Amino acid sequence: MDKAPHMEHDRGTWGSNFGFLMAAVGSAVGLGNIWGFPYKMGSKGGFAFLVIYLLLVVFVGVVVMLGELTIGRKTGLGAVGAYAKLSKKYKWVGYLGILSAFTLLAFYNVLGGLVMRYMFGFILEILGVDGFSGAEGGFFDYILFDYSGMIFFHVLFIVCNVVIVMGGIQGGIEKFCTVAMPALFFMLLFVIIYVAFQPGAGQGYKDMLTPDLKPISTFGGFVDVLKTAAGQMFFSLSLGMGAIISYGSYLDKKENLQKNSLIIPACDTLIAVMAACAVLPACAAFGMEYNQGPGLLFNTMQNVFLSMGSFGSFVGFMFYFLVFIAAVTSSISLFEAIVTWRIDVNREKGKKTNRTTIMCVAAVCSLIVGLPVALDALGSPDAAVKAPYLLLGMTPEQLDAGQVPMAIDAWLDFFDVISEGIFMPLGALVMSVLIGWKWKTKNLVVPECEQSGHKFWGYGFFDFCFKFITPLGMLVVLGGQIYDFFIKALLA
Ligand code: TRP
Repeated sequence: MDKAPHMEHDRGTWGSNFGFLMAAVGSAVGLGNIWGFPYKMGSKGGFAFLVIYLLLVVFVGVVVMLGELTIGRKTGLGAVGAYAKLSKKYKWVGYLGILSAFTLLAFYNVLGGLVMRYMFGFILEILGVDGFSGAEGGFFDYILFDYSGMIFFHVLFIVCNVVIVMGGIQGGIEKFCTVAMPALFFMLLFVIIYVAFQPGAGQGYKDMLTPDLKPISTFGGFVDVLKTAAGQMFFSLSLGMGAIISYGSYLDKKENLQKNSLIIPACDTLIAVMAACAVLPACAAFGMEYNQGPGLLFNTMQNVFLSMGSFGSFVGFMFYFLVFIAAVTSSISLFEAIVTWRIDVNREKGKKTNRTTIMCVAAVCSLIVGLPVALDALGSPDAAVKAPYLLLGMTPEQLDAGQVPMAIDAWLDFFDVISEGIFMPLGALVMSVLIGWKWKTKNLVVPECEQSGHKFWGYGFFDFCFKFITPLGMLVVLGGQIYDFFIKALLA
């Protein structure tokens, strides 16, 4: 008896292409858009950065996106299964993706928890209670050492993920994203408009839109902007670790992959630019620096909203609520990459799968991996858990002198660097070379994209990119990140 259709149904599918798009855009739109993009754009050439970023999205981002969607939908499997099915030898690329999922989750969950803490802080402010005791610039430093608070919100954020992913593809992820992503869009629009009316906001737009060619006027400067933009583009589109492969594996054969591979990066870029239109003018209006790490999202933005008076608390709540949506719709796709992998393994063995059990195990594992990130106070020497550089015997003085590689200056950066700096670009590099040269665009991508009569008009473009431009772009990402994260400090 043919059991396949029934089992197909077991695995689940998206209810509609729109639902899939919302989930995929949800995965792409995350902390990278709302926090990383604005400050990188603000500090690396403004409009010039944007132009380079857009070129990278078109020539590398869209292409890798299509590659992942194709691999996922063609095989109907998550990253590990998909690579194994296409060629046994490359199964390791799939495992690299699972590893990236855990390393990304290690810090993403902690940041998501912090965002929730700020969201609740503003709810308390609205209710007239002091939501940030010890605030006025000091709250971020305070919360980092409030270990029980850090763990509480870390766990709370993971629980939100469990609740959504447990519901399955259609009943959980799609349902949530279909409501949450449009809500995020409108809340962001509201924040942008509100910020636009703050006196002094104009300077922020000026900094964004005036092409500052100084950063790219020398070769070294150009390479610096190029690698920053390339790394940002790549991270922002959730590429290189199999999340998009997994989401693609649940997509109906009648949907148009080529079109989807354009829409997702377009929406992601739109939200990134919109976030810049909210964050940079807000900082400018209150005379704050954009060029900050985690401080921008937590310190600076909090102070901006607190200083806007009582309505500011409401806008602050809205801002952190939308950042929460951005974060959780991204982290569920990381969890789903892991869950899909286990579901596929069980199906292959003919075992019944319990999505909830798998998700709970993944949640507990990610909680444990994330604990050092939650407890090292971003690498402070006084924290409960020591940062990697301290464990290795380096000193805070060396840190101040810029001699500690970013890879080891805090557990957050450690996990960020190994996933974003090595595993993911390596995964995408191997994938584009495999598609361009081994599996071939015409044998793999074309037939999959032409399912149900869709025309694959971009063949020439995609084939050329898979073969040459994308591998080159990925080398820039890989080389740039390795230099920034490991080598730069050693030369200081
Ligand atoms: N794109 C997410 C952001 O912009 C982060 C991210 C990178 C991600 N890779 C991912 C999310 C893979 C989910 C899956 O913040």
